[in-house]
Amino acid sequence: MNQKKILILGALGQIGSPLTQKLRQIYGNELVIASDIKHDKNNRLTDGPFELIDATNYQQILNSIKRHNVDTVYLMAAMLSATSEKHPEKAWNLNLSSLLNILNLAKAGYVKTIFWPSSIAVFGPTTPKENVPQQTLMEPTSVYGISKAAGEDWCAYYHNNFGVDVRSLRYPGIISWQSLPGGGTTDYAVDIFHKAVKGQPFSCFLEARTKLPMMYIDDALEATIKIMNCAPKKLTVRTSYNLSAISFTPEEIFNSIRSYYPLFSIEYHPDFRQSIADSWPNSINDFQARKDWGWEPKFNLQELTKAMIEHLKL
Ligand code: SER
Repeated sequence: MNQKKILILGALGQIGSPLTQKLRQIYGNELVIASDIKHDKNNRLTDGPFELIDATNYQQILNSIKRHNVDTVYLMAAMLSATSEKHPEKAWNLNLSSLLNILNLAKAGYVKTIFWPSSIAVFGPTTPKENVPQQTLMEPTSVYGISKAAGEDWCAYYHNNFGVDVRSLRYPGIISWQSLPGGGTTDYAVDIFHKAVKGQPFSCFLEARTKLPMMYIDDALEATIKIMNCAPKKLTVRTSYNLSAISFTPEEIFNSIRSYYPLFSIEYHPDFRQSIADSWPNSINDFQARKDWGWEPKFNLQELTKAMIEHLKL
């Protein structure tokens, strides 16, 4: 009854949903409280507790934390890059007020450990394109990137001034089959699989040559669980850790998929998301994550392609 529990905000999202399932496998269904702003039409995550929580509402989160004896929060609610460009103030409000709510709850002693994802979107045109070091010039130009970069600084501030144990990763584009992404620039690399398995042609909103850092969902979950299980004194980065697995272009992933579907076809129709993608780096150096908590990705492009097709064609 007194066992400490985990609360996931944004549990129906692209990463929140498989993360909830993974944490339930590890800790047991009853110890992992899933929450989102709306109910799930598809009735996923019904194997454990689910609550309606608006991550921008401090009191709603606090009530749930008290009710369930929560000590760890994963804040996965966010507006992604493409949608954020269309709704800048809403994006700022959701991405930052939810974070400040959780940081303040931890400062007040209601939460012990926080996970908050950052992104490669914190980097900008003045950042080196290749092998971006942990500490570098950032200057993001997208609304989403600005919110994540500010969020990183808030995390470090609450850690340094109030001892808040907040842990963060700069996720690259995440490729998952469990749920559709919404409103990201790297999402083409998920949509492309859905079209391929349905035997439909793919219209890509990025140019063929646009190389971006990417990662298969299993690697992203592994990294998340690893950093959360690490002894706090080993963590030397309290903004957010660089995290890397693979980098590829739309043309490269198309060719990889075509080895399974030889008739698959692609057309390129770049839109406003091209300039967001162009402002981000091609590849990331994650030396510090490897050194501090033993990070090591497992999936390359071929393995990712195989895993996605195997899961989606069922
Ligand atoms: N996948 C995200 C996006 O495209 C990047 O963090 O918005």
